[in-house]
Amino acid sequence: MEEKSTTPLYMRHLQKVLQYAYYHSQSAEQMLSQMVISYHSIEKGLAVSEKRFGFGQPKMRALIDLCYRYMDAYGDYPSRLEDTLGVIAEYDQLHKEQSFLLSDDLQQSIDALLKQTEGHWDLSHTKHLTKQEYFADIQKSFAEFSASRHSIRDFDGTDVRKSVMNQVFALAQNAPSACNRQATRVYAVYNEQLITKLVDLQNHERGFADNARPLLVIATELQSWGSGEEWFGGYVDAGIYMMNLLYALHYHQVAAIPLNWYADEVSQQQIHELLNIPDSQEVVAFIACGNPKDEFNLVTSKRRDAKEIVTYF
Ligand SMILES: Cc1cc2nc3c(=O)[nH]c(=O)nc-3n(C[C@H](O)[C@H](O)[C@H](O)COP(=O)(O)O)c2cc1C
Repeated sequence: MEEKSTTPLYMRHLQKVLQYAYYHSQSAEQMLSQMVISYHSIEKGLAVSEKRFGFGQPKMRALIDLCYRYMDAYGDYPSRLEDTLGVIAEYDQLHKEQSFLLSDDLQQSIDALLKQTEGHWDLSHTKHLTKQEYFADIQKSFAEFSASRHSIRDFDGTDVRKSVMNQVFALAQNAPSACNRQATRVYAVYNEQLITKLVDLQNHERGFADNARPLLVIATELQSWGSGEEWFGGYVDAGIYMMNLLYALHYHQVAAIPLNWYADEVSQQQIHELLNIPDSQEVVAFIACGNPKDEFNLVTSKRRDAKEIVTYF
């Protein structure tokens, strides 16, 4: 009889992450993942309303180097490389339009890369919309509704009314969960001082998340899970809940963006103290919510073709 492995699932998971996370080597998948993470931060800089021209130059150099390393090693143009090139082209266009001089070496490498890869990129990564345009499709078919939701990083700083948030939360309750456990918890924070502290703990998104009203902290109740084989079910369920919540927010014309919570132990402890979160719960992520400004930019965050990620048997 085959011997059953005694390594708990979370240990096996950790071992695999240590082996495969993109920091460790340079497979095509690891390089493309690094590219997306890196171009996404440039793309966000392109969309903010108050731009810091010349931003991200060291990151741009590293990104260009990564594109060349990928092309030298693999020689093809998967969509994630094309999207990276498109963002580099928009960065170039923005600075040329503003007559802002990037450092000579960077400008030369951008020009050379874009020339060499012509035909493999376009300028369609950031969009300027009015609030009315952004919410125009919320009563249309699911396909149109779903395609019209985006992460918004530009709130006007006013409160989304609690009566609206109550409707949003009621709608989000339709989310499925494992055995209908409903282990996800939400802390809806309107208090400005608390929001500032939470955004500082989250460590990334000062500049737009501190204008969220409310900032939602999503947690999972570990007492709902039985063993080391099950525990990350709480994270799966919270993810499904969050997607439903994002759609519920969009349906009720609330702008929103999920934010990661990759916190160290000290921040974990601090967030529990700040919001009185029971020790039995773990924070999974934030969602910053707000009323959008009358006009704003958004990042389109291009998607891979479904064929690239689906395998049929
Ligand atoms: C779990 C999660 C964490 C995220 N964390 C951040 C974040 O910390 N900062 C940020 O600007 N965007 C964050 N995002 C937003 C993603 O960048 C965004 O969802 C992605 O680019 C797809 O774009 P879309 O939401 O407009 O469809 C996060 C998204 C998810 C799902």
